[in-house]
Amino acid sequence: MVKVTVCGAAGGIGQPLSLMLKMNPYINELSLFDVVNVPGVGTDLSHIDTDTKVSYHLKSDDNNTGLSQALKDSNFVIIPAGVPRKPGMTRDDLFKINAGICSELATGIAETCPDATVLVISNPVNSTVPVFAEVFKKKGIFNPRKLFGVTTLDSVRANTFISEVATNEADKAPSAFNIRVVGGHSGETIVPLFSVCAPHVYALEDEKKIDALVHRVQYGGDEVVQAKNGAGSATLSMAYAGYKFLHAVLAASTGDTTIIESSYVYLDDSIPGAKETKEIIKGLYGGESLDYFAMPVVLSKEGIKEIKSDILSRVNNKEKELLKICCKTLAGNIAKGASFSQ
Ligand code: NAI
Repeated sequence: MVKVTVCGAAGGIGQPLSLMLKMNPYINELSLFDVVNVPGVGTDLSHIDTDTKVSYHLKSDDNNTGLSQALKDSNFVIIPAGVPRKPGMTRDDLFKINAGICSELATGIAETCPDATVLVISNPVNSTVPVFAEVFKKKGIFNPRKLFGVTTLDSVRANTFISEVATNEADKAPSAFNIRVVGGHSGETIVPLFSVCAPHVYALEDEKKIDALVHRVQYGGDEVVQAKNGAGSATLSMAYAGYKFLHAVLAASTGDTTIIESSYVYLDDSIPGAKETKEIIKGLYGGESLDYFAMPVVLSKEGIKEIKSDILSRVNNKEKELLKICCKTLAGNIAKGASFSQ
């Protein structure tokens, strides 16, 4: 029996994500949690004739026990709860509000389903993942192999945007690419590694075109925020990305050990590849090493099996410069998240 809980299920991401999860063959029970509107979303989804059972819970249910009811027996928890960006805001601006929400949800998970695999979508991911980790550490249940910051949208955008640059070349649809994006999940902390992951794209022999492409991946979220003009940030493409990542995690949980996905993770020394990743980052950055980084990881039944550190030793000089800039900003974002719960 696989139970997945979506926290923030009634939101712009939560609704389309929950719709896709209702159609996922790995999931037996889909539990929807929110502070508002979730009975409507849950009832609507429950009419769909797929086998996944739907339950829904408001925080205020039965003397505020809605969260523990939602989380009871959950194997996976995916979290698109919190406020989205408005024009002029950075992901970092969201921190104060969303860190409080994340801390509350992390406490609920630690108390109700401490063995669950946790996927964090709420921004700023660079800081909210450390909030989860710190709460879990305090509660004595932290398993670094089972905590993921969802950064899949960066790779999704990189695949799409590079395919647009390559439109004059045959067979270069988005599906021809699997661009690994490392670092963090905000502006200059997002580092797409086009030099190591892409089939050759002639247009990218022009340095200016690479720069423009990197910038578009780093700030692709702003295109959506501006186009929505005050009505929020990416929801549909994010729901797709969140679904894609959770589907990979679910597939790996059935025993498939061939799945590699990028995610923002805690670099715990017990995970193969973590020490090597930290050493490379330290060498590039010149400062302290970082405890969190988005990296390609091999997934397994137990969560992260290995961090693919080798990718960082194959980057070109330009990408090394981008990584240096990333590390500086990321160090501050991590410290902010880690100190929130202390
Ligand atoms: P939204 O405002 O449409 O939905 C958020 C939902 O969270 C609402 O239904 C709200 O009632 C709920 N919520 C608020 N407090 C809660 C609590 N304590 N417990 C449970 N639910 C609670 O926002 P949207 O557009 O769905 O974005 C959600 C989050 O995802 C934001 O933080 C946004 O920045 C982030 N995001 C992350 C991306 C990523 O790549 N990781 C991409 C796009 C957005």
